[in-house]
Amino acid sequence: MNRALIPAQRLNKLPAYVFARLDELKARARQQGLDLIDLGMGNPDGPTPQPVVEAAQAAIADPAHHGYPPFEGTASFRQAITDWYYRRYGVELDANGEALPLLGSKEGLTHLALAYVDPGDLVLVPSPAYPAHFRGPMIAGGQIYPMMMRAENGWLIDLEEIPAEVAQQARVLYFNYPNNPTAAVAPRSFFEAVVEFARRYDLILVHDLCYAELAFDGYQPTSLLQIPGAKELAVEFHTLSKTYNMAGWRVGFVVGNRQIIQSLRTLKTNLDYGIFAAIQKAAETALRLPDSYLHQVQERYRTRRDYLIGRLAELGWRLSPPQATMYLWIPTPRTASGGAEGSTEFALRVLESTGVVVTPGNAFGEGGEGYVRISLIADCERMGQAMDRWREAGIRYS
Ligand SMILES: Cc1ncc(COP(=O)(O)O)c(C=O)c1O
Repeated sequence: MNRALIPAQRLNKLPAYVFARLDELKARARQQGLDLIDLGMGNPDGPTPQPVVEAAQAAIADPAHHGYPPFEGTASFRQAITDWYYRRYGVELDANGEALPLLGSKEGLTHLALAYVDPGDLVLVPSPAYPAHFRGPMIAGGQIYPMMMRAENGWLIDLEEIPAEVAQQARVLYFNYPNNPTAAVAPRSFFEAVVEFARRYDLILVHDLCYAELAFDGYQPTSLLQIPGAKELAVEFHTLSKTYNMAGWRVGFVVGNRQIIQSLRTLKTNLDYGIFAAIQKAAETALRLPDSYLHQVQERYRTRRDYLIGRLAELGWRLSPPQATMYLWIPTPRTASGGAEGSTEFALRVLESTGVVVTPGNAFGEGGEGYVRISLIADCERMGQAMDRWREAGIRYS
């Protein structure tokens, strides 16, 4: 290749994209007219709630929204965020400085690394993790220390396992419960331990509470900001993509420590102009929807979770129902030699033999090897068809 066309090292250094081969097979299957059942991405299948769409339509018609939006987000969206926080978690936040709208939480999670990680800095990131948690720090030139999570620990990070000299050098710790991809949840005592750990080692905490509302059976996820003292060193990210079926609208927010938020804002002032004000109006409407909407969404995912767990049990997978998220995290079958089939191999085998797309666990880091993630983004009938195909193709857990 012409040397001039070789991209910057920060791009070349990113780990290989596990989805490449899967995408190739998906494209080929589509060309052949195969009926793919895509349970790969965490892309909600439902429509955005009608009041939200209507608020956006009215806002688009209003010329007041047609110019550049304010860098810090509109005052009314920020107020809706802090009101929502108080309602959900009893946490008081200042809408002027402790809440910042984002172009989706992925944007903020990644840019936060650019604001806080210098080349060579150590960043503590779980493995497996949502890829932005490690790709953001890598783009910033940071070194990742993977905090390995394991099924035996209920996929909780084991803080005791982090060597003191590593923790002393680290600057930032990313984490996420309810967790993508494992669907694990963490008790309040874990959040207390992380805050204490961050204090001891002078770290900033980045908590991704993207699945705040997709919780079932009466379970209420903890906000890191509910822990006394957390606001001194932490921020928490949220998205409207999941709960409100707004993944395409690109809107999320971060709340918490004023100084961290100010640094992120300073960076973003140099990168983007923020979210179209009409979309902020829509997001504000979503956050103010009555809880009955939320219960409907939760019920939809809970029903799908229970249905799929039942169907997978017929194929040999014994899973305990996760208390939150829109995912099932299932081990790959044992091979003849007694080990687990590789995540990628299993996902490719399933795709080739059944046309069902699942995400290989190693796309989320080494700690996800031996698992695949299934997204509950189709109705029970469609997931039933997927399971019928698995049964016919002899896909089972053994
Ligand atoms: C843990 C986690 N954080 C963030 C995101 C990204 O959300 P957004 O659409 O707000 O960028 C996702 C999307 O799947 C996710 O799983």
